[in-house]
Amino acid sequence: MLVIRVSITKFISDDQPGFVECKFTDVWGKEHIVQDKVPIVTEKYLDADSEYPQEGSIACQIIKEWNDANGLRIFTVTIAKPWSVDTIDGETEFDLRKEQLSELDRITETSTAESPNVRTNFPMNSDIISYYNKRAKEYDKIYAKPERQADLLAAEQILQRIFADKNVLEIACGTGYWTQKISYKAKNILATDINESVIEIAKSKDYPINNVRFLTSDIFELTPAHKQQALFGGFIWSHIKLEELETFIDKVNSLVEDQGPIVFMDNRFADDNNLPIVETDSFGNTYQDRTLEDGTTHRVIKNFPTETFIMNKLSGKAINLKLTPLQYYWILEYMPVKD
Ligand SMILES: C[S@@+](CC[C@H](N)C(=O)[O-])C[C@H]1O[C@@H](n2cnc3c(N)ncnc32)[C@H](O)[C@@H]1O
Repeated sequence: MLVIRVSITKFISDDQPGFVECKFTDVWGKEHIVQDKVPIVTEKYLDADSEYPQEGSIACQIIKEWNDANGLRIFTVTIAKPWSVDTIDGETEFDLRKEQLSELDRITETSTAESPNVRTNFPMNSDIISYYNKRAKEYDKIYAKPERQADLLAAEQILQRIFADKNVLEIACGTGYWTQKISYKAKNILATDINESVIEIAKSKDYPINNVRFLTSDIFELTPAHKQQALFGGFIWSHIKLEELETFIDKVNSLVEDQGPIVFMDNRFADDNNLPIVETDSFGNTYQDRTLEDGTTHRVIKNFPTETFIMNKLSGKAINLKLTPLQYYWILEYMPVKD
Protein backbone atom coordinates (compact mmCIF):
# COMPACT_ATOMS: atom_id res chain seq x y z
CA MET A 1 0.00 0.00 0.00
CA LEU A 2 1.35 3.40 -0.99
CA VAL A 3 1.50 6.02 1.78
CA ILE A 4 2.54 9.63 2.29
CA ARG A 5 5.05 9.97 5.11
CA VAL A 6 3.70 12.51 7.57
CA SER A 7 4.62 13.94 10.92
CA ILE A 8 2.13 13.28 13.70
CA THR A 9 2.35 16.52 15.62
CA LYS A 10 -0.22 16.26 18.39
CA PHE A 11 -3.05 14.32 19.99
CA ILE A 12 -6.33 16.14 19.64
CA SER A 13 -9.13 14.05 21.10
CA ASP A 14 -9.81 11.09 23.32
CA ASP A 15 -12.62 9.60 21.24
CA GLN A 16 -12.52 5.90 20.56
CA PRO A 17 -10.09 5.63 18.83
CA GLY A 18 -8.25 8.88 19.57
CA PHE A 19 -7.62 11.58 16.97
CA VAL A 20 -4.26 13.08 16.05
CA GLU A 21 -3.06 15.92 13.89
CA CYS A 22 -0.54 15.25 11.11
CA LYS A 23 1.39 17.54 8.80
CA PHE A 24 3.24 17.27 5.52
CA THR A 25 4.48 19.79 2.98
CA ASP A 26 3.99 19.55 -0.80
CA VAL A 27 6.59 20.33 -3.47
CA TRP A 28 5.33 23.94 -3.63
CA GLY A 29 6.16 24.43 0.05
CA LYS A 30 2.55 24.44 1.22
CA GLU A 31 1.91 22.72 4.56
CA HIS A 32 -1.13 20.47 4.79
CA ILE A 33 -2.84 19.39 8.00
CA VAL A 34 -4.85 16.20 8.42
CA GLN A 35 -6.79 15.37 11.56
CA ASP A 36 -7.85 11.75 11.73
CA LYS A 37 -8.11 8.62 13.85
CA VAL A 38 -4.89 7.20 15.23
CA PRO A 39 -5.21 3.86 13.34
CA ILE A 40 -5.48 5.76 10.05
CA VAL A 41 -1.97 7.18 10.47
CA THR A 42 -0.02 4.68 12.54
CA GLU A 43 -0.09 1.13 13.88
CA LYS A 44 1.15 2.40 17.22
CA TYR A 45 -1.06 3.07 20.18
CA LEU A 46 -1.04 6.82 20.77
CA ASP A 47 -2.66 8.98 23.38
CA ALA A 48 -2.17 12.36 24.98
CA ASP A 49 0.90 11.08 26.86
CA SER A 50 2.73 9.80 23.75
CA GLU A 51 5.73 11.73 22.46
CA TYR A 52 5.16 14.14 19.57
CA PRO A 53 6.14 14.67 16.84
CA GLN A 54 6.52 11.16 15.50
CA GLU A 55 6.35 9.44 12.14
CA GLY A 56 3.08 8.47 10.58
CA SER A 57 1.66 7.71 7.18
CA ILE A 58 -1.51 8.27 5.20
CA ALA A 59 -2.59 5.88 2.47
CA CYS A 60 -2.75 7.43 -0.97
CA GLN A 61 -3.00 6.62 -4.63
CA ILE A 62 -1.02 8.11 -7.50
CA ILE A 63 -3.06 10.10 -9.98
CA LYS A 64 -0.18 11.02 -12.29
CA GLU A 65 3.60 11.26 -12.51
CA TRP A 66 5.21 14.14 -14.33
CA ASN A 67 8.38 16.27 -14.56
CA ASP A 68 8.49 19.93 -13.54
CA ALA A 69 10.42 22.58 -15.50
CA ASN A 70 13.65 21.49 -13.75
CA GLY A 71 13.14 17.86 -14.67
CA LEU A 72 12.20 16.93 -11.10
CA ARG A 73 9.85 13.95 -10.97
CA ILE A 74 6.58 14.85 -9.27
CA PHE A 75 3.85 12.53 -8.11
CA THR A 76 0.33 13.89 -7.91
CA VAL A 77 -1.47 11.75 -5.34
CA THR A 78 -4.90 11.60 -3.77
CA ILE A 79 -5.74 10.70 -0.19
CA ALA A 80 -9.44 10.45 -1.05
CA LYS A 81 -8.55 6.90 -2.03
CA PRO A 82 -8.34 4.32 -0.63
CA TRP A 83 -9.54 5.76 2.69
CA SER A 84 -11.52 8.97 2.05
CA VAL A 85 -9.12 11.16 4.01
CA ASP A 86 -8.84 14.91 3.46
CA THR A 87 -7.07 17.88 5.02
CA ILE A 88 -8.67 20.36 7.38
CA ASP A 89 -9.07 22.56 4.27
CA GLY A 90 -10.89 19.77 2.44
CA GLU A 91 -7.99 19.14 0.04
CA THR A 92 -7.26 15.64 -1.22
CA GLU A 93 -4.73 16.01 -4.04
CA PHE A 94 -1.08 16.97 -3.61
CA ASP A 95 2.13 17.17 -5.62
CA LEU A 96 4.89 15.31 -3.80
CA ARG A 97 8.43 14.08 -4.32
CA LYS A 98 9.23 10.38 -4.41
CA GLU A 99 11.00 10.54 -1.01
CA GLN A 100 7.73 11.57 0.60
CA LEU A 101 6.07 8.33 -0.45
CA SER A 102 6.68 4.77 0.78
CA GLU A 103 5.27 1.32 0.33
CA LEU A 104 3.85 -0.03 3.56
CA ASP A 105 3.34 -3.76 4.03
CA ARG A 106 0.35 -3.36 6.27
CA ILE A 107 -0.56 -7.00 6.68
CA THR A 108 2.68 -8.12 8.25
CA GLU A 109 3.11 -4.95 10.22
CA THR A 110 -0.28 -4.88 11.86
CA SER A 111 -1.23 -8.39 12.67
CA THR A 112 0.19 -8.80 16.11
CA ALA A 113 -1.82 -9.42 19.21
CA GLU A 114 0.23 -6.74 20.94
CA SER A 115 -0.87 -3.84 18.78
CA PRO A 116 -4.04 -2.39 20.20
CA ASN A 117 -4.61 -0.32 17.10
CA VAL A 118 -4.31 -1.96 13.74
CA ARG A 119 -4.52 -0.23 10.44
CA THR A 120 -6.75 -1.40 7.69
CA ASN A 121 -7.37 -0.62 4.09
CA PHE A 122 -10.90 -0.17 5.26
CA PRO A 123 -10.71 2.61 7.80
CA MET A 124 -14.15 2.29 9.24
CA ASN A 125 -13.14 -1.17 10.32
CA SER A 126 -10.07 -0.19 12.27
CA ASP A 127 -11.74 -0.52 15.66
CA ILE A 128 -13.47 -3.75 14.60
CA ILE A 129 -10.13 -5.27 13.71
CA SER A 130 -8.56 -4.30 16.98
CA TYR A 131 -11.61 -5.57 18.84
CA TYR A 132 -11.51 -9.02 17.19
CA ASN A 133 -7.78 -9.18 17.71
CA LYS A 134 -8.33 -8.74 21.45
CA ARG A 135 -11.34 -11.05 21.49
CA ALA A 136 -9.60 -13.93 19.67
CA LYS A 137 -9.07 -16.24 22.66
CA GLU A 138 -12.61 -15.86 24.00
CA TYR A 139 -14.38 -15.72 20.62
CA ASP A 140 -15.52 -19.35 20.38
CA LYS A 141 -17.62 -19.03 23.55
CA ILE A 142 -20.26 -17.39 21.35
CA TYR A 143 -20.84 -20.81 19.78
CA ALA A 144 -21.54 -22.48 23.13
CA LYS A 145 -24.78 -20.64 23.86
CA PRO A 146 -27.25 -23.50 24.52
CA GLU A 147 -30.29 -21.78 22.99
CA ARG A 148 -28.45 -21.35 19.66
CA GLN A 149 -27.41 -24.98 19.17
CA ALA A 150 -30.37 -25.97 16.99
CA ASP A 151 -29.75 -23.00 14.69
CA LEU A 152 -26.02 -23.72 14.55
CA LEU A 153 -26.66 -27.29 13.51
CA ALA A 154 -29.17 -26.21 10.86
CA ALA A 155 -26.67 -23.64 9.54
CA GLU A 156 -23.91 -26.24 9.46
CA GLN A 157 -26.04 -28.51 7.30
CA ILE A 158 -27.03 -25.70 4.94
CA LEU A 159 -23.42 -24.55 4.50
CA GLN A 160 -22.12 -28.08 4.04
CA ARG A 161 -24.73 -28.69 1.33
CA ILE A 162 -23.93 -25.47 -0.51
CA PHE A 163 -20.15 -25.90 -0.41
CA ALA A 164 -19.96 -29.67 -0.97
CA ASP A 165 -17.07 -30.49 -3.33
CA LYS A 166 -16.32 -26.82 -4.00
CA ASN A 167 -13.17 -24.75 -3.74
CA VAL A 168 -14.14 -22.07 -1.25
CA LEU A 169 -12.67 -18.67 -0.42
CA GLU A 170 -13.63 -17.78 3.13
CA ILE A 171 -13.36 -14.13 4.10
CA ALA A 172 -13.12 -13.01 7.76
CA CYS A 173 -12.80 -16.65 8.85
CA GLY A 174 -12.03 -15.67 12.44
CA THR A 175 -11.22 -18.60 14.70
CA GLY A 176 -12.34 -21.09 12.07
CA TYR A 177 -15.59 -22.34 13.55
CA TRP A 178 -17.26 -22.41 10.12
CA THR A 179 -14.02 -23.20 8.31
CA GLN A 180 -13.91 -26.47 10.16
CA LYS A 181 -17.58 -27.31 9.60
CA ILE A 182 -17.38 -26.50 5.89
CA SER A 183 -14.07 -28.35 5.48
CA TYR A 184 -15.78 -31.68 6.14
CA LYS A 185 -17.60 -31.35 2.80
CA ALA A 186 -15.73 -28.79 0.68
CA LYS A 187 -12.98 -29.75 -1.72
CA ASN A 188 -10.62 -27.03 -0.52
CA ILE A 189 -10.85 -23.83 1.53
CA LEU A 190 -8.67 -20.76 1.40
CA ALA A 191 -9.53 -19.22 4.77
CA THR A 192 -8.58 -15.57 5.25
CA ASP A 193 -8.83 -12.98 7.98
CA ILE A 194 -7.07 -9.72 8.70
CA ASN A 195 -6.11 -10.76 12.25
CA GLU A 196 -3.20 -13.14 12.70
CA SER A 197 -4.40 -13.88 16.25
CA VAL A 198 -7.66 -15.46 15.07
CA ILE A 199 -5.96 -17.26 12.18
CA GLU A 200 -3.60 -18.91 14.69
CA ILE A 201 -6.60 -20.30 16.58
CA ALA A 202 -8.27 -21.41 13.36
CA LYS A 203 -5.06 -23.18 12.31
CA SER A 204 -4.97 -25.12 15.57
CA LYS A 205 -8.30 -26.81 14.77
CA ASP A 206 -8.52 -30.23 13.24
CA TYR A 207 -9.13 -30.53 9.50
CA PRO A 208 -9.29 -34.27 8.90
CA ILE A 209 -8.83 -34.20 5.14
CA ASN A 210 -6.15 -31.54 5.23
CA ASN A 211 -7.94 -29.33 2.74
CA VAL A 212 -7.59 -25.87 4.36
CA ARG A 213 -5.01 -23.17 3.67
CA PHE A 214 -4.86 -19.95 5.65
CA LEU A 215 -3.92 -16.44 4.64
CA THR A 216 -3.75 -13.32 6.77
CA SER A 217 -5.32 -10.64 4.62
CA ASP A 218 -7.73 -7.78 4.57
CA ILE A 219 -10.72 -8.62 2.40
CA PHE A 220 -9.89 -5.55 0.36
CA GLU A 221 -6.41 -6.78 -0.40
CA LEU A 222 -7.54 -10.08 -1.84
CA THR A 223 -7.01 -10.15 -5.59
CA PRO A 224 -8.21 -12.25 -8.52
CA ALA A 225 -5.29 -14.58 -7.69
CA HIS A 226 -7.28 -15.63 -4.61
CA LYS A 227 -10.47 -16.33 -6.55
CA GLN A 228 -12.23 -19.59 -5.82
CA GLN A 229 -15.42 -21.21 -7.07
CA ALA A 230 -17.44 -20.13 -4.06
CA LEU A 231 -17.17 -17.61 -1.24
CA PHE A 232 -18.31 -17.60 2.37
CA GLY A 233 -18.39 -14.73 4.87
CA GLY A 234 -19.67 -15.46 8.35
CA PHE A 235 -20.74 -12.52 10.55
CA ILE A 236 -18.86 -9.91 8.54
CA TRP A 237 -21.77 -8.29 6.66
CA SER A 238 -23.07 -6.79 9.92
CA HIS A 239 -19.72 -5.10 10.56
CA ILE A 240 -19.54 -3.38 7.18
CA LYS A 241 -20.53 0.25 7.29
CA LEU A 242 -23.66 0.91 5.26
CA GLU A 243 -21.86 3.52 3.20
CA GLU A 244 -19.21 0.92 2.27
CA LEU A 245 -21.54 -1.97 1.55
CA GLU A 246 -21.67 -1.53 -2.21
CA THR A 247 -17.89 -1.47 -2.47
CA PHE A 248 -17.79 -4.55 -0.28
CA ILE A 249 -20.32 -6.41 -2.44
CA ASP A 250 -18.45 -5.48 -5.63
CA LYS A 251 -15.24 -6.76 -4.03
CA VAL A 252 -16.65 -10.14 -2.99
CA ASN A 253 -18.39 -10.52 -6.33
CA SER A 254 -15.01 -10.16 -8.00
CA LEU A 255 -13.54 -12.95 -5.88
CA VAL A 256 -15.52 -15.89 -7.24
CA GLU A 257 -15.19 -17.71 -10.51
CA ASP A 258 -18.22 -17.61 -12.78
CA GLN A 259 -21.33 -17.51 -10.69
CA GLY A 260 -20.23 -18.54 -7.26
CA PRO A 261 -22.20 -19.11 -5.10
CA ILE A 262 -21.54 -16.38 -2.53
CA VAL A 263 -22.91 -17.00 0.94
CA PHE A 264 -23.19 -14.73 3.97
CA MET A 265 -24.42 -15.68 7.40
CA ASP A 266 -25.18 -13.19 10.14
CA ASN A 267 -27.27 -12.38 13.19
CA ARG A 268 -30.92 -11.50 13.31
CA PHE A 269 -31.73 -9.06 16.06
CA ALA A 270 -33.40 -10.79 18.98
CA ASP A 271 -34.15 -8.49 21.93
CA ASP A 272 -33.58 -11.19 24.50
CA ASN A 273 -30.40 -12.56 22.91
CA ASN A 274 -28.49 -9.56 21.59
CA LEU A 275 -26.77 -6.65 23.25
CA PRO A 276 -28.81 -3.46 22.89
CA ILE A 277 -28.13 -0.89 20.20
CA VAL A 278 -26.51 2.07 21.95
CA GLU A 279 -25.89 4.36 19.00
CA THR A 280 -27.08 4.96 15.46
CA ASP A 281 -24.84 7.18 13.30
CA SER A 282 -25.84 9.54 10.53
CA PHE A 283 -25.58 6.77 7.91
CA GLY A 284 -27.89 4.53 9.94
CA ASN A 285 -25.11 2.20 11.19
CA THR A 286 -25.91 0.78 14.61
CA TYR A 287 -23.46 0.09 17.43
CA GLN A 288 -23.25 -2.13 20.50
CA ASP A 289 -21.01 -1.75 23.55
CA ARG A 290 -19.18 -5.03 24.07
CA THR A 291 -17.08 -5.89 27.12
CA LEU A 292 -14.21 -8.36 26.91
CA GLU A 293 -12.95 -10.57 29.72
CA ASP A 294 -10.11 -8.11 30.42
CA GLY A 295 -12.78 -5.56 31.36
CA THR A 296 -12.32 -3.29 28.32
CA THR A 297 -15.46 -2.11 26.56
CA HIS A 298 -15.59 -1.57 22.82
CA ARG A 299 -18.22 0.24 20.78
CA VAL A 300 -18.67 -2.08 17.83
CA ILE A 301 -20.61 -1.48 14.64
CA LYS A 302 -23.26 -4.15 14.26
CA ASN A 303 -25.97 -3.72 11.64
CA PHE A 304 -29.09 -5.86 11.49
CA PRO A 305 -30.34 -5.57 7.91
CA THR A 306 -33.87 -6.50 6.96
CA GLU A 307 -34.54 -8.89 4.11
CA THR A 308 -35.81 -6.00 1.97
CA PHE A 309 -32.65 -4.00 2.64
CA ILE A 310 -30.43 -6.93 1.61
CA MET A 311 -32.45 -7.58 -1.55
CA ASN A 312 -32.32 -3.89 -2.52
CA LYS A 313 -28.57 -3.67 -1.91
CA LEU A 314 -27.95 -6.64 -4.15
CA SER A 315 -30.28 -5.47 -6.87
CA GLY A 316 -28.37 -5.55 -10.16
CA LYS A 317 -25.42 -7.23 -8.46
CA ALA A 318 -26.88 -10.68 -7.83
CA ILE A 319 -29.34 -13.25 -9.11
CA ASN A 320 -30.95 -16.32 -7.59
CA LEU A 321 -30.99 -14.77 -4.13
CA LYS A 322 -32.13 -17.02 -1.37
CA LEU A 323 -32.40 -15.81 2.22
CA THR A 324 -32.96 -18.44 4.88
CA PRO A 325 -34.07 -17.05 8.22
CA LEU A 326 -33.26 -19.14 11.28
CA GLN A 327 -34.27 -18.14 14.79
CA TYR A 328 -31.05 -16.25 15.57
CA TYR A 329 -29.36 -16.05 12.17
CA TRP A 330 -29.92 -15.46 8.50
CA ILE A 331 -28.11 -17.18 5.65
CA LEU A 332 -27.96 -15.51 2.26
CA GLU A 333 -26.97 -17.35 -0.89
CA TYR A 334 -26.67 -15.72 -4.32
CA MET A 335 -24.95 -15.80 -7.68
CA PRO A 336 -23.07 -12.58 -8.50
CA VAL A 337 -23.79 -10.63 -11.64
CA LYS A 338 -20.50 -9.93 -13.39
CA ASP A 339 -20.00 -6.72 -15.39
C1 LIG B 1 -17.60 -11.66 13.84
S1 LIG B 1 -16.02 -12.25 13.44
C2 LIG B 1 -16.50 -13.61 12.43
C3 LIG B 1 -15.51 -14.74 12.43
C4 LIG B 1 -15.96 -15.99 11.69
N1 LIG B 1 -16.34 -15.72 10.32
C5 LIG B 1 -17.13 -16.62 12.39
O1 LIG B 1 -18.23 -16.57 11.83
O2 LIG B 1 -16.94 -17.18 13.47
C6 LIG B 1 -15.49 -11.07 12.26
C7 LIG B 1 -14.10 -11.32 11.72
O3 LIG B 1 -13.87 -10.39 10.67
C8 LIG B 1 -12.49 -10.09 10.67
N2 LIG B 1 -12.35 -8.85 9.89
C9 LIG B 1 -12.84 -7.62 10.19
N3 LIG B 1 -12.54 -6.75 9.22
C10 LIG B 1 -11.85 -7.46 8.27
C11 LIG B 1 -11.27 -7.11 7.02
N4 LIG B 1 -11.32 -5.87 6.56
N5 LIG B 1 -10.65 -8.08 6.32
C12 LIG B 1 -10.58 -9.35 6.79
N6 LIG B 1 -11.11 -9.73 7.98
C13 LIG B 1 -11.74 -8.80 8.70
C14 LIG B 1 -12.14 -9.99 12.13
O4 LIG B 1 -10.76 -10.15 12.37
C15 LIG B 1 -12.98 -11.13 12.72
O5 LIG B 1 -12.22 -12.31 12.79
